[in-house]
Amino acid sequence: MKITASNHIQRLRRGVFHDLLDKKRGLAAQGHALIDLSVGSPDQPPPDFVKEIIQHYSARDDAYGYTMGALPSFNQAVATFYRERHGVSLNLDTEVLQLIGSQDGLAHLATALINPGDIVLVPDPGYPIFEVGVHIAGGEPYAMPLRKENGFLPRLDEIPTEIADRAKMMVLNYPANPVTATADQTFLEEAVRFARRHNILLVQDFTYSELVFDGKQAVSLLSVPGAKEVAVEFNSLSKTFNMAGCRIGYMAGNAHVIKIMATMMSHTQYGIFLPIQKAAEKILIDGSSFIAQQRARYQSRRDALVTALADAGWNITKPPATMYVWAPLPPGWSSVDFTFRLMEQTGVIVTPGNAFGREGEGYVRITLVQTEETLREAAKRICTFLKTAHIR
Ligand SMILES: Cc1ncc(COP(=O)(O)O)c(C=O)c1O
Repeated sequence: MKITASNHIQRLRRGVFHDLLDKKRGLAAQGHALIDLSVGSPDQPPPDFVKEIIQHYSARDDAYGYTMGALPSFNQAVATFYRERHGVSLNLDTEVLQLIGSQDGLAHLATALINPGDIVLVPDPGYPIFEVGVHIAGGEPYAMPLRKENGFLPRLDEIPTEIADRAKMMVLNYPANPVTATADQTFLEEAVRFARRHNILLVQDFTYSELVFDGKQAVSLLSVPGAKEVAVEFNSLSKTFNMAGCRIGYMAGNAHVIKIMATMMSHTQYGIFLPIQKAAEKILIDGSSFIAQQRARYQSRRDALVTALADAGWNITKPPATMYVWAPLPPGWSSVDFTFRLMEQTGVIVTPGNAFGREGEGYVRITLVQTEETLREAAKRICTFLKTAHIR
């Protein structure tokens, strides 16, 4: 019997992360001292009170049934978080939907809204699920280049009118993975005007909403007047609160889109484990001081890495947000060649920029999920490599 993947799945190529993983396993088996700065999984735990709540509820016999979706108190906590941190008011019943992580939600949103042939405007470089979700749904991604000279914002005026008119969705992600940029109010207002003009749903991934440095704040798309008519925003507890393995996030905004998603998910999901929901709602309400610590930690790590690389002659602009450094390679290097040779020769693992799209060529993404000391050691190895390696 020959079983083949669906046409949509056949269009997906194997992600570079798996190639990196194979190589990493091989090098680890040979005893190399690896420093993994590739995957954006937080290295620190959530605060103790989160772990205590999970322990407390896990010990209860009545905690193991299906939750069938969000507890009302979870939606209430999301609304409190949005009001207090982003000045946005949300209707608990119609404008919030709990998700098993924003990744899962983003993948399902395309399935819920996109028909074969529909165009979706996606950032390039961008987090892979934006494009992959569209492929899975049978739609056509259209890349919006994010370039340094434009502050890594898409040039909406350069999108051809016939493409804009056929597009059903536009995905934005600010603060951005991998390019680390933030979007200001002016750009978000322009995006809302563009969406209204062309009848496009704006989908903003706000996963890094709190990891912003130098005393700045990220702007929620939902705070723009009129945005709820044309937009939904995804957020997550994974990065902000070091709860990536707990798999909990949510979307908020346009009530009609939330209803479509909720209908679909009522068939595909039976809700998140109760102890996780309880812990999540507590930290959404009481997480401000933890967020301040998180920002300070990543900011110090950013400074340690960028300074150590600059001392050795590799000057990289400090990222304003996220948990990444988006590093332009010295001229002549391809991002894949740099990544694999760096890994073989030094044990430092980064992600080649082209894993995030064509426009990522010439860059690598370095993740700040190690201590300052380890990041300095990584910088030392990288600099030795740059001095000794020859471009092929
Ligand atoms: C931009 C972006 N969105 C979503 C996710 C996934 O978040 P979650 O853990 O909520 O699924 C990530 C994880 O790296 C990300 O970088």
